Parts: sequence; C-alpha cells; structure tokens
Amino acid sequence: MAEARKRYLSGNQPSGLLHLGNYFGAIREHIALQDEGEGFYFIANYHALTTIRDAEKLRQLTFDAAVTYLACGLDPNKSCLFRQSDVPEVTELTWLLMTVTPMGLLERAVSYKDKISRGLSAEAGLFNYPVLMAADILAYQSDAVPVGEDQVQHVEITRDIAGAFNRAYGEVFKLPVYKLGVAPYVPGTDGGKMSKSYGNAIDIFAEGKALRDIVMGIKTDSTPVEAPKDPAKCNIFALYALMATPAEKQEMEARYRRGGMGYGEAKKALVAKIESYFADARARRAEWASHPDRVEEVFRHGAQRARAEARLTLDAARAACGVA
Ligand code: ADP
Ligand code: TRP
Repeated sequence: MAEARKRYLSGNQPSGLLHLGNYFGAIREHIALQDEGEGFYFIANYHALTTIRDAEKLRQLTFDAAVTYLACGLDPNKSCLFRQSDVPEVTELTWLLMTVTPMGLLERAVSYKDKISRGLSAEAGLFNYPVLMAADILAYQSDAVPVGEDQVQHVEITRDIAGAFNRAYGEVFKLPVYKLGVAPYVPGTDGGKMSKSYGNAIDIFAEGKALRDIVMGIKTDSTPVEAPKDPAKCNIFALYALMATPAEKQEMEARYRRGGMGYGEAKKALVAKIESYFADARARRAEWASHPDRVEEVFRHGAQRARAEARLTLDAARAACGVA
C-alpha cells in the first residue's frame, strides 16, 4: 500500500515584515515541501495580537505576509494558505486544550519567561500563546511542523498537551514532530537570532538605500583590511552563504582567508546578492500587491479548506470530552 502523503503545517506571525530568518528558516522550507506533501500554512494574526495594537497596521502586515509567501513561490493550488483568524474552530479548540494544560508547562515557555525575567508584566494572551499554537497544529492532525530552531520548544509543548488530552479522553490527536530546515538559525545584524522584535532583521524585500544602510550596520570584529579573516566567524559571510552558489561561496571564503578584503567590500557583495536573489520574487510581489482581491480570494479558499479539516478534529475532541 502506498504511504499516505505527509501533512505539514506552519505559521508566521505578521508582527513585522518577514525577514531573511523567516525565509531561510521557514518559508523556503514550506514552499519546498509543497511538492512532497500536503501543506497548510497560515498567517498567525491572533498570535501577533500579543505584540501589535494597531488595527490597520496588523491588517497591512497580514496582507503583506501572504503576499510574501505567494511572491516567494507558494502555490495556492498546491498548499493551503490562510489567515489564522478565519478558522474559529482553532480558537474553540484552544479552550479544550487549555483545560488539560499544566500551568508549569506554560511557565517554562521561553517568550513568557523572557518577558517576566526582564521585569515586564505579561498578558494572559502571551502566557497562553503556546496553547493557541498547539491548537493550530493539532486541529489539522499535522504530521510535521517545519520551523526554525526557536520554535522547537513550542512543538514539544504541543506534543505534551496532545498527550495530556489523549490520556484523559482517548486518542483524538496525532502527535506531530518538528522539522528543521537547512538554516534553522539565521543570525541578525547584531549576531543574535534575526527577529522582527530585536531590530536586527533584514527584510526579504528591503532594497536600495534602506537595504544598504541595514547591511552596512552588520556588526563585525575589527580585523584590518589586509589581514586574513575567518569566514566561519563572520555574520556577513553566514548570510551571503545562504544565497550564494557553491562556487561563489568558495570564492568568497578564499577572499576572506587571503586577506586584502575589508568587511565593507563583503557587505557590498551581500547587498548585491540579496537584491539579485530576490529579484524575481520582488517582481511577483509587486504583481500580487496590486491585486488585493486575488490575495483575498486565496485567503477565502484557504479558510474554506482549513475550516473543513479543523471542524473534523474539533468535533472529535468535543465528543471525546463530553460537550457534544
Ligand atoms: P520573529 O522571531 O521574527 O518574530 P517568528 O517567530 O514569527 O519570527 O518566526 C516565523 C518562522 O520563522 C518560525 O518558523 C521561526 O522558527 C522562523 N524563524 C524566525 N527567525 C528565524 C531565524 N533567525 N533563523 C531561522 N528561523 C527563524
Ligand atoms: N509561534 C510561531 C512563531 O512565532 C508562529 C506560529 C503560530 C506557528 N502557530 C504556529 C508556527 C503553528 C508553527 C505552527 O514563529
């Protein structure tokens, strides 16, 4: 018997413009997997509400995130692309899951823990963020969740929550695994993890002066121009290597080791690489962005498909715990 096609599910928060970390750590994998299995990808606007409090901005960023997926090659006829808030079954499932989620599990979740350790107060939405994420994943009976390294803990929490529900009520949920791609940790301009919230991100579609300014700001050590440099310790090289062909990568490595090339020159090469690597996607982006009705149609179609799947799981979960 032929093996069933795997189902992949993942989400991106529209809490800012999508950046190279999102692309190489997640979006590129999502698009590559659309020919291998069944893809469910969504824009996590409910999650973004834990950081954004500007309705128009959130709408715009949600639209822009979808356009980015489409421009980068997501085919809405192969994968299901939708907006998280269009699937109310998921928020309903979140409550059922919340009733079996130990507080201690959520207290150990990094985003909540970080905020508290910085002396900031957190909202219940941030505390319960991983439960909504578990519902996102479990509602579609996903096999695997393609994400970057920073999301691994969330997928593990999802497995714990699914296990708790299954133990209480029988096998309702499939336990998913996380799936790391080839670039699970993309560094930002300061050397830390590139993130929308750390001011260290290079947006996928940054261009011109804005792109030059942000790349010129990448932190380097103070090795002088003439001296040989170690490419393995340089963030400029790490980013360049994500987009270069093997031959270009080798040549750049040799230039680092030889000495005589300053970081300024490496930064210029990186700017040119980013512009050329995303040139086709940039053109497709302009096309999609000028047809918001088509994007809305993708969302409408995606939500229909996603809701049908989520409904089946929600009904099973409701019946299992005695509310239906
Ligand atoms: P951000 O930290 O910018 O808010 P998200 O948390 O919305 O990004 O992440 C969306 C997806 O992109 C997730 O799968 C996440 O693991 C991945 N991702 C985010 N930043 C990086 C990075 N610097 N390197 C690799 N993957 C990343
Ligand atoms: N928390 C994820 C992030 O910040 C976004 C997300 C929400 C997600 N729900 C998900 C990712 C379900 C994978 C699966 O990146």
